[in-house]
Amino acid sequence: MSSHPVEPSDLVGLGKRYWLPVYRPRDVILDHGKGSRVWDTEGRDYIDFGAGIAVNALGHQDPDLVAALVGQAHKLWHASNVFYSEPPLHLAQELVEHAPFAERVFLCNSGTEANEAAIKLVRKWAASLGRPPEKRVIVTFKGSFHGRTLAAVTATAQPKYQEGYEPLPGGFRYVPFNDPAALEEAMAHGDVAAVMLEPVQGEGGVMPAEPGFLKKVRELCDAHEALMVLDEIQCGMGRTGTLFAHTHDHVTPDIVTLAKALGAGFPIGAMLVGPKVAEVMQFGAHGTTFGGNPMAAAVARVALAKIASPAVMLNVERQANDLRAGLNKLNHEFHLFSEIRGRGLMIGAVLDARYAGRAGEILDLAAAHGLLILQAGPDVLRIVPPLTITDEETAEGLERLHASLAAFVQEAQVA
Ligand SMILES: Cc1ncc(COP(=O)(O)O)c(C=O)c1O
Repeated sequence: MSSHPVEPSDLVGLGKRYWLPVYRPRDVILDHGKGSRVWDTEGRDYIDFGAGIAVNALGHQDPDLVAALVGQAHKLWHASNVFYSEPPLHLAQELVEHAPFAERVFLCNSGTEANEAAIKLVRKWAASLGRPPEKRVIVTFKGSFHGRTLAAVTATAQPKYQEGYEPLPGGFRYVPFNDPAALEEAMAHGDVAAVMLEPVQGEGGVMPAEPGFLKKVRELCDAHEALMVLDEIQCGMGRTGTLFAHTHDHVTPDIVTLAKALGAGFPIGAMLVGPKVAEVMQFGAHGTTFGGNPMAAAVARVALAKIASPAVMLNVERQANDLRAGLNKLNHEFHLFSEIRGRGLMIGAVLDARYAGRAGEILDLAAAHGLLILQAGPDVLRIVPPLTITDEETAEGLERLHASLAAFVQEAQVA
């Protein structure tokens, strides 16, 4: 091995040389973080308005999360599902206690796995009712994102994620989001086993379900004996100001999937299931080696308790108001956005048609000005900071966004 220390620029080269080139990260190597601020290997600091794509809900280096992780690291790293360990037992109970709709929990490692479990459960449930395979259709919505396994990517009604992976599994039907009439028509054939959706679409452009839409989904599911599956992987765990995003809509889902902020940065996913389906999958029906791993579960228990606390939920509301006000003010000055939408700390700033396709450029400029933001497709800036972001961090982030947008406008005019 070479005795020369590797320079950060060389490190980026390692990624370009050795990683499967499925990502296009910015040339920034993040090194450490504290609260809603992170530092790169060259000592530059960034305000974190992206939280690792809505994952680091409690910011970076939350002392209680660190203590939970280190404490468990000194006890037991892995147990497998052949034996019990304590953390996932408590976590399952605590999740059910926080979720009025749920009776049981399946723990896994990621969002796509949670959705894969949900898709399999829907099919198994329909099979248990004697419905033949052609009557086990799952309806999903255009603009949705449900993950990258073959079934989850088929549920994801966006061709760009599916192209080249055919043959895709059958039994999915796509309808426009927020279109009750189209959903009614899609369910009129007597072959639908479930409707699956995100209460706020994330990757599809930070698009909330319109008021009353989730209620309509529930009604149609009841009328057609279908299950209502909510993918709260991005919008759940407090992001919208309530622990579960669907709480705003007063509906009772049959299945809810969680991941991302569930472990606040440690990989874990979960499928929460209600009484209609809690006993459908029996011994041997599904499984995973790492799901319910004691390290992940120990962290998730603390994350759940903290995220569900009134202090964190109040902060979501407070910072969301400040961020929206700040974004509106920036828009008065720069006229870049046609709409600012979302719910709680899941905010999308939609670029005006004149700037369509240029969200990535703004993301680059923001990084250069010490701000991490995300895009949701080419036309939408996505802001999903830690739920614990402080007044000062929000204000500083908005200042840096101001500088980034000023630079963008200048470049846009020159171009
Ligand atoms: C709504 C939603 N579902 C599923 C997924 C997939 O989760 P993961 O990347 O953990 O597999 C994501 C990830 O962005 C998501 O936003």
